[in-house]
Parts: sequence; C-alpha cells; structure tokens
Amino acid sequence: MRKKLTKAIFPVAGMGTRFLPATKAIPKEIMTLVDRPLIQYAIDEAREAGIKEFIFVTSRGKSALEDYFDHAPQLEQELRKKGKDDLLRILKSTNMDSGAIAYIRQHRALGLGHAVHCARRLIANEPFAVILPDDVIDGEQGCLKQMLDVYEETGGCMVAAMEVPQEKTSSYGVLDVADDMGSLVSVKGMVEKPKAEDAPSNLAVIGRYILTPDVLRNLNRQDAGAGGEIQLTDAIAKQIGTEKGVYGYRFRGQRYDCGSKSGFLQATVAFGLARDDLRDDLLSYLDEIAVSRKAAE
Ligand code: UTP
Repeated sequence: MRKKLTKAIFPVAGMGTRFLPATKAIPKEIMTLVDRPLIQYAIDEAREAGIKEFIFVTSRGKSALEDYFDHAPQLEQELRKKGKDDLLRILKSTNMDSGAIAYIRQHRALGLGHAVHCARRLIANEPFAVILPDDVIDGEQGCLKQMLDVYEETGGCMVAAMEVPQEKTSSYGVLDVADDMGSLVSVKGMVEKPKAEDAPSNLAVIGRYILTPDVLRNLNRQDAGAGGEIQLTDAIAKQIGTEKGVYGYRFRGQRYDCGSKSGFLQATVAFGLARDDLRDDLLSYLDEIAVSRKAAE
C-alpha cells in the first residue's frame, strides 16, 4: 500500500529581493494579505490536505517566522480577560502542535532544489509535499488537497500546473505533455525557464508538488542548472520514464504570485473584497479611483 502523505516542506530561505527594502527586516512569508501572513495561507492549505509534519527550510533573518508559530499565552490571557472571543479564536487557530514543526537551515541560497535537499533527513523514505508560500491559491478546495485526491490514484510525482501566456513561460518550469487527460496530464519533459520560443507548451509549474523520495536522491547527485541554481524541476524531470512517472495537475482556483509586487497587490485586493467586513468600503474606494482616473484622461 502507498504511504500516506503526512510531511510537507516549506522552502522559505530565499532572499526575497523583489520586496527590498521590506525584506531587509521582514521575511517575505510574514507579509500579510489583509491580516494573515502568507505563511498562514500555506499552512491552512497543508492542514486541509492532512499534513501533520511541517518542515521549514529557513535562513538567517527569518526568526519572525519561528515567533509567529509560537503560542502566545499572555496575549491569549489578555483577550480572554477582555472577552474578545472572536480574536481569541483567530489567534488559537494559528497554534501549531508542539513537535509538529521543524526548522532546517539552508546556509546559502543555492536554489529551490537545494533548499528541498536540505530537508532530506527529515523526509527519509516517504512521499512528501513541497509548498511555496509565495504562490497563494484561492479556491473552494485547497490546491494540495485537490492534487492529493488524484495522486492517490496515480502515485509518482505530481506538480501543480497552469496555463500562462507564451511570452511568460520564461519565468517558469514548463511541462512537455505526453498525454492530456483534462485536469491531469502525463509529462514527457520539463524545462526550467525556457526561452519563450523554445517552451514545449504554455503549461507552467507553480509552487505545489507531491514528490517521491527518489527526487531527493536525484538532488543528491545534481549540479546547478538554469540561473546557476540547483533546480527542483531538473530533479523531478529525472523521474520521467520511471515506473511511477510524473504528472501535472491543472488545479481549480485563482493563483496569485505573491513573490511579485503586482501579484501581491492583486491578492490584497481580491482577499479584501472577499471579506464581509471590508468589501463595501474597498469597493467604493476602488470605484472612486476608477472614476477619478477616467476623469483625468
Ligand atoms: P524565489 O525564486 O521567489 O526567490 O524562490 P526569493 O529569494 O524568495 O525571491 P526574489 O526572487 O529574490 O524576490 C521561490 C521559493 O523558493 C525558496 C524561496 O524562499 C521561495 O519560497 N528558496 C529559493 C529557498 O528556500 N532557497 C533558495 O536558495 C531559493
């Protein structure tokens, strides 16, 4: 029987240079969409998929992340005393069980593949998920849970995939599709950041993966790839043609690239509009801006 997926790696050791100067002092993953840090969205998605062990690959300057996951008994007590039950409930929903979180250091930012490799001893010989918290996916069902339901049938390696405009393919890992079955595709090739004219399709890999431990062994032997970084895509591609194979999964939901400024701003507006307590104010403000921009044209 296939081993249950209970472990997820959250690689958060990148430098987040696109958000400088903010990321000089704040980890990108602590930046908030409305009132929840990016990392909380990722954790909630993992929990929904049944993940029990949360492995963070961190680096210098990320201690705010560890603090965020600490329990806050004093704050809880204060809220209880003041009868602020709603806030207390929100605060408690972020608590993590003792022993459920592990932190591993990536000493040099050598790439996503290297970050995942740093967690190899905690994964040992089990399938595992990788979640990139800067890809925030809003949907009725979490992306990882959707993937898990299909993975239970397919096994092997699975990456989340979405269609992107051809000219944007050079920013992504791109799938060469063997068989397109609708939401599921089997993969015969993967290229990291190809030139747009060389991209084998416009189906791009985004930050959710279910991987077999073979990928860790591939990373063991791997040299730097595109951009001089140790690429996760290359290690997954080595599994193509093996018995278990590699699949892409077209998830249902809206993905926001919160690693980029414009993606982050779009997500902020979308999550603001989704909130009953903020929608009306935000909408009338957006209408106001639209009208005054039109008038100025
Ligand atoms: P990005 O490519 O977005 O890099 O990494 P970054 O450093 O976070 O941000 P920019 O490009 O400088 O603005 C994608 C994911 O891989 C992790 C990042 O933390 C992010 O979650 N990563 C990347 C690592 O953990 N280690 C690395 O060496 C590189």
